[in-house]
Amino acid sequence: MSQFNYIKDIAKFGLENDQQKLLSVLNELIEYSKKTKKVNFALQLQSILKEAIRHQQTTGLTKVGSDVHFQRIEDKDYNEFIIEKLTSDYSFENLVCEESVKNELNYFIQEHRSSEILNKFELPIANKVLLHGPSGCGKTLASYVIAGELEKMMVVINLGAIVSSKLGETSKNLSKVFKRAASEDLIIFFDEFDSLGKVRDYSQDHGEMKRIVNTILQLFDYLPQSSIVIAATNQVNMIDEALLRRFDMSFKFELPTENRIKELIDLTLKNGRFSFDKPKSVRGIIIESIGLSYYTIQKTLITAIKRSLFDLPKDSHPSTAKINTAIWKELILKEKSSFSLSKSV
Ligand SMILES: Nc1ncnc2c1ncn2[C@@H]1O[C@H](COP(=O)(O)OP(=O)(O)O)[C@@H](O)[C@H]1O
Ligand SMILES: [Mg+2]
Repeated sequence: MSQFNYIKDIAKFGLENDQQKLLSVLNELIEYSKKTKKVNFALQLQSILKEAIRHQQTTGLTKVGSDVHFQRIEDKDYNEFIIEKLTSDYSFENLVCEESVKNELNYFIQEHRSSEILNKFELPIANKVLLHGPSGCGKTLASYVIAGELEKMMVVINLGAIVSSKLGETSKNLSKVFKRAASEDLIIFFDEFDSLGKVRDYSQDHGEMKRIVNTILQLFDYLPQSSIVIAATNQVNMIDEALLRRFDMSFKFELPTENRIKELIDLTLKNGRFSFDKPKSVRGIIIESIGLSYYTIQKTLITAIKRSLFDLPKDSHPSTAKINTAIWKELILKEKSSFSLSKSV
């Protein structure tokens, strides 16, 4: 059966209000999409289906005080704590990093791909990962790569909304989001994990931070082996020692060296449409860029490409173009000087 036939059936059963047949054809389409390598589409459909089923179970007449009523309130909170739910097409090719980091990341991914054999020998599967290092060096990107490589749905948790000034509330919120996400076999991504440290400012009670750390440690124990927790932070020194020890793997993302900057440039120009007008001056700019983040270097290069295009004659429609190297150099120098200014204050 082709995709179009599934769509026709979905339209038919949907319009006829035949829930049972609709569900069965949707499930068939999910299986078909997995087989034909449209895994992200399959995951998205699956998620729509799950949501709809859950919604059906929780809507309808609600009796105040019934279990259903409580569940609905919890759903509302849960959604508030999530920034987004996503699937990813990113793979290792999208990430430039030190070979050692890439190897370790690869091992991590392999543990999940080979979970069957590890389970068979009753070996634990690493599923709690910490990503740390300066801003703009690929931590969030690496989480997308993990999601993409493992073809798993990822929820990005809104820690800002979870951290509360009310005593005990942060722990409660964490439990809520964790338990629910863990039951869905997802990747749970806590970006800016150090925001938990804000509790120290909010709370005069010194026990509060300890309570939160204990809650997280307990939740880590509760995590099924197929679920994954990724935490990312720019300020690893803000995170409690006991908590740091409980991550199975920890990856440090560093500012790029000369070779990594070269790789980043190749990656950014990989569609082959842009090349430098003065290739010989590129190395000098790369050296100038050392100290800046991957994000900043890539951003300036893309800006230079755009500005080089503005200089082309109005009605020319070239399929390739030269990057004005001087423009890029100027942008890099500007970033460098604002960087050193911000460091000296
Ligand atoms: N190591 C890297 N390899 C390739 N691109 C990168 C890398 N680090 C950053 N970038 C680029 O900068 C963007 C922002 O990086 P991000 O992963 O959000 O950094 P972080 O989370 O460490 O602050 C990425 O989407 C990507 O375009
Ligand atoms: Mg980030």
